[in-house]
Amino acid sequence: MTLLSSRPRGPVEPGLLSRALEVAGRLANDATEVITATAGRGARPGVKDSPFDWVTDTDRTLERHTRRVLTAEFPGIPVVGEEFGADHGAEDAEYRWVVDPVDGTANYVAGVPWCAYSLALVDAAGPVVGVVADPYRGQIYAAARGRGARANGVRVALTDRTSCAGAIVCTELTRTGPWPGLGHFIERAAAAHAGVRVLGSAALAIAQVALGHAAAAVLHSYHEWDVAGSVALAIETGAVVLDRHGEDSALPVDGLLVAAPGVADEVLTWWQDTAHR
Ligand code: IPD
Ligand code: CA
Ligand code: CA
Repeated sequence: MTLLSSRPRGPVEPGLLSRALEVAGRLANDATEVITATAGRGARPGVKDSPFDWVTDTDRTLERHTRRVLTAEFPGIPVVGEEFGADHGAEDAEYRWVVDPVDGTANYVAGVPWCAYSLALVDAAGPVVGVVADPYRGQIYAAARGRGARANGVRVALTDRTSCAGAIVCTELTRTGPWPGLGHFIERAAAAHAGVRVLGSAALAIAQVALGHAAAAVLHSYHEWDVAGSVALAIETGAVVLDRHGEDSALPVDGLLVAAPGVADEVLTWWQDTAHR
């Protein structure tokens, strides 16, 4: 389920915003503890649709814990999660929580230090509050509508580049491999002296833009739970969030580009050019 809109992002009741941020931050801390205590050490993977589509006890335990806490703290707000689906009424609710308990599960299972926990409160205009735990760096990134984005409490900022030369651009593979045109996209980036990185977590790919590390991130396909938390961060830093047609949209259905404003047009051109290949 993905409710998508480019409607203006309206104000949210300040009490709800503060409480959502506080509870989401607590859950991100809990996730950090669980992930760092278990990563690469006996996480018991089961497979879902393919041998490379992992789910572990950690995914299920973290999502159950998240749901338990959110249901107790915000009884009227449904939860949508990767492992246990959508609560009744989530489609039409004013707000919904969206959680991906472990994003980058293949890395987590292998012990590659690059995975995240992602949680967002979303309304019809997009993310209202987002937290992304980056356990291996001991960082929690958090944002709330109109209140900016922070890493462990410190304000973060986008790169002020006006060209991608020398910059990192993140993307991710699809479940079945490279997205159509990825090779060409990498060539366009290389010709512009930029480096494309595929690191294995959609949430952390977008977070790198919000943190000012990467100039842009392009995701060809994703689930809402992969990106809702980090798109909240990106929007609050002033990043451009576009669909593949170049339209402003907080959570586009069909691929998204998150970029620092000075490079958005350049990367959009590379991405759109892949459609003609
Ligand atoms: C995956 C990661 C990965 C992306 C996949 C996602 P998961 O999520 O975000 O980077 O390439 O498409 O499914 O399964 O580890 O939560
Ligand atoms: Ca995911
Ligand atoms: Ca996941």
